[in-house]
Amino acid sequence: MVDIHCHILPALDDGAASVEEALEMAETGIQEGITHVVATPHANSEFRFDYDAVCERRNELQARLGDRLRLATGCDFHLSVENLELIRGRPTNYAINQKRYLLVEFADFAIPPTAEEALHGLQLLGLSPIITHPERNRLIRSQPQRLWRWLRQGCYIQVTAQSLLGKWGESARKQAEEWLDKEIVHFFASDAHNTHHRPLRLREAYAVVEARWGEQMAQSLFRENPLAAFEGRDLPYEPQIPSAPDLTAPPVRRRKRFIFF
Ligand SMILES: [Fe+2]
Repeated sequence: MVDIHCHILPALDDGAASVEEALEMAETGIQEGITHVVATPHANSEFRFDYDAVCERRNELQARLGDRLRLATGCDFHLSVENLELIRGRPTNYAINQKRYLLVEFADFAIPPTAEEALHGLQLLGLSPIITHPERNRLIRSQPQRLWRWLRQGCYIQVTAQSLLGKWGESARKQAEEWLDKEIVHFFASDAHNTHHRPLRLREAYAVVEARWGEQMAQSLFRENPLAAFEGRDLPYEPQIPSAPDLTAPPVRRRKRFIFF
């Protein structure tokens, strides 16, 4: 499997705190059957993204791991005015393996009204935005038409593996399931931050997807699409996004059922 979202580099953000913890996370990943990991430190108001430091830490960790796990760099890019200015100079510094896919994260408390323009601006820089874990964002869950618009303009969706296991709450799990049913998910990733609460694990979520949505879907979302993003290729699995959103309907149906039962 290939993990495109992981905070494995030590002492750069709220991910691995030390080289030892980073190595432990890597060992967990190797045991899970993960072959490639993209180290994606935060770029937000709390953590500055320093590309040279990111590359240095990646090279140090890769040297310790040898060829047992292939590491690349990217960024957990927070969509803010300041970041949009910064990325303009060197867009590929932030991209997965310095190719063309970019992880884009929205704040939990506000989605800017200009999000569509901002995402389009990233596309004009040659980047393909991947919206990270929208299932965990209450605002996005309550405004599915925004997500639909981003999909229609060519963005992709990455779900956190642990969301499907209920580790981010029932709402996130149900939302992930609903979007899998609708075939609008493009990637799963660990978004691992440490060895315990947010580990570098994908296997259990892979098994859930395989059992309910089939082996091909699991292969596409955990291996084939992430590998294509790693290598900067077009995605092999890119489902047709419906031309009209029916994304608002299921929550209403669910609420009715709850009242009657
Ligand atoms: Fe992250």
